[in-house]
Amino acid sequence: MNVYDAIMNRRTIRKFEQKPIPKEDLTKLVDLARMAAYPANVQPLKFAIIDDKEILKALYPFTKWAGALANGAPKENERPMAYIAVIGDKNIKAGGGFEVEAGAAVTTMMLASEEMGIASCWLGAIKREEIKAELGLRNEYDVVYLLALGYPKQKSRTVAMQHGEVKYFESPDGTINVPKRSLDEVLLNV
Ligand SMILES: Cc1cc2nc3c(=O)[nH]c(=O)nc-3n(C[C@H](O)[C@H](O)[C@H](O)COP(=O)(O)O)c2cc1C
Repeated sequence: MNVYDAIMNRRTIRKFEQKPIPKEDLTKLVDLARMAAYPANVQPLKFAIIDDKEILKALYPFTKWAGALANGAPKENERPMAYIAVIGDKNIKAGGGFEVEAGAAVTTMMLASEEMGIASCWLGAIKREEIKAELGLRNEYDVVYLLALGYPKQKSRTVAMQHGEVKYFESPDGTINVPKRSLDEVLLNV
C-alpha cells in the first residue's frame, strides 16, 4: 500500500474482530511513532502496548465511543484487541502539553496500521487519571491519548459533506459515513 492509499482509505473503526494482533506488529507501530516529526526534536513521548485481556477489560470503562451515534460503541465481543497508550514524559518536557507530539505519533501509527490491515480509533474522550492509575504510571507521566487497535469488523467510508453537517452517521447495513469537506471548500485562493 502506498502512502496516498493509506491516507485516503484509513477510517476510524470502532468494532473489531476478536483476533489477537501479533506483538511484533504493535511494537513496530511504536518503532514508527518514534520517527515522527516532533517540535524542536524533543521527543517527550512514551508508549505503552496494552493487549492483556484483563487490562483491556479494566480500561474499557474509561473510554467513550462515537459521540455522534446512538449505538456506536463496540459490544463486548467487538472491543479493541489492543491499545497503544501515548504518554507524555514531564521529565523531558516539564511544562506538559503533549497534544501536538501525540497527534504526530498517533497519525503515524494509524497510517502504518492501515498498511498492516489493522484498524484503529484515536481515543481522546478518555478518563486519563483512571487510566494512569490502572497502568500504574509514575507521576511524571501524563496519558495523552489511547489508540484502539484491531482487525476491522465494521465498514466506514467518506461522503461529501452536505450543508456543513459534520456528524458521521450509520447506514442501514451498518456502514459508517464520515462527511468530509470538499477540496474547493478547504483550498483558499490567496
Ligand atoms: C483528537 C481526537 C480524539 C478522538 N476521540 C475519539 C473518542 O474518544 N471516541 C471515538 O469514538 N472517536 C474519537 N475520535 C475519532 C473521530 O471521531 C474521527 O476521527 C472522526 O469522526 C473522523 O473520522 P475518520 O477518522 O474516519 O476520518 C477522535 C479523533 C481525534 C482526532
